[in-house]
Amino acid sequence: MGRQKLEQTARDLIAEGKGILAADETVSTITKRFATLKIESTEDSRRAYREMFFTTPDVSAFISGVILQDETIRQKNDAGIALTEVLSKQGIIPGIKVDTGAKVLAGSPEEKMTEGLDGLRDRLKEYAAMGARFAKWRAVIRITDRLPSPVCVSVNAHALARYAALCQEQGIVPIVEPEVLMDGSHTIERCEEVTSSILLAVFHALFEQCVGLEGMLLKPSMVIAGKNCSKQASVQEVATATLRCLRRHVPAAVPGIVFLSGGQSEVLATSHLNAINKLDLPKPWKISFSYGRALQDPAMEAWRGKQQNLKAAQQAFYHRAKCNSAAAIGKYTSTLEGKKSAQEAAVHRSDWHDD
Ligand code: 13P
Repeated sequence: MGRQKLEQTARDLIAEGKGILAADETVSTITKRFATLKIESTEDSRRAYREMFFTTPDVSAFISGVILQDETIRQKNDAGIALTEVLSKQGIIPGIKVDTGAKVLAGSPEEKMTEGLDGLRDRLKEYAAMGARFAKWRAVIRITDRLPSPVCVSVNAHALARYAALCQEQGIVPIVEPEVLMDGSHTIERCEEVTSSILLAVFHALFEQCVGLEGMLLKPSMVIAGKNCSKQASVQEVATATLRCLRRHVPAAVPGIVFLSGGQSEVLATSHLNAINKLDLPKPWKISFSYGRALQDPAMEAWRGKQQNLKAAQQAFYHRAKCNSAAAIGKYTSTLEGKKSAQEAAVHRSDWHDD
């Protein structure tokens, strides 16, 4: 029964044409993003910002779930209704980020190791009681000529699998997120090589720790050239390399792959997702989105912390959710964007990675 429930939640999260909003930035990350638009960061302003997304009319046609953060999952709206309840009433599944951040890796100080396993079983119990039905844990892998080191890959893969096993024990669907950063000047080929080795290590660890693949989702980065690489790959090249890499390393039992946007512009992130879905190759899993910045940035710019901009911000969010929903079934076209073409928006966006 528990297993069936898990598998059903995983399938609901990747229902046809739907994806996930990642709204789980830590207080320090959201504060930095707010600061670029001179928005004050307080518990109330952060709540108002998140509520703007959660109450966007009809957005549940495109958004299946939202990843929250510890502060948000405990918050209530002005009427005293928990934000998790606000989401559930919209038909959106609440999820929770449960890692406690990527910290310097002892022994390899240029790299990071994601922490948060201590006490995780009890925290998951608490989050489940508050309504969370899925969770997220993000591992961060940096590429240089020498990195990632083998130890960085193995400790992060091990922690992802420990987390996933604990989630499933508590009836929570784990989203397993090994993010290969876009920072750096590496080529797309190097990114594919590193992404392959990470996926290999992660699925090996998941297998060793008896994680049920049918009751989890994978949240990878796309295979893409580093931001500072002089040769940027085309949309078609990114789609081809990404799907090739995933087909080689992600078992067919995994029901869905939901990409992170990783600092790509919102239009580029949508175009890449669309191109991947359009490739004429077998895809054993659903392929959708779990974007943070690529779904939020235009809405944050429209909102700017002002109640009078709420409607414009919700329209901006609705628009991006709709475009990504189309991309999740390979039906996105640039005409859906209105004025803005893919090229106009093809600049990389905010540099603030989450902690
Ligand atoms: P971005 O789409 O902004 O990369 O955020 C997704 C996410 O959840 C990162 O952990």
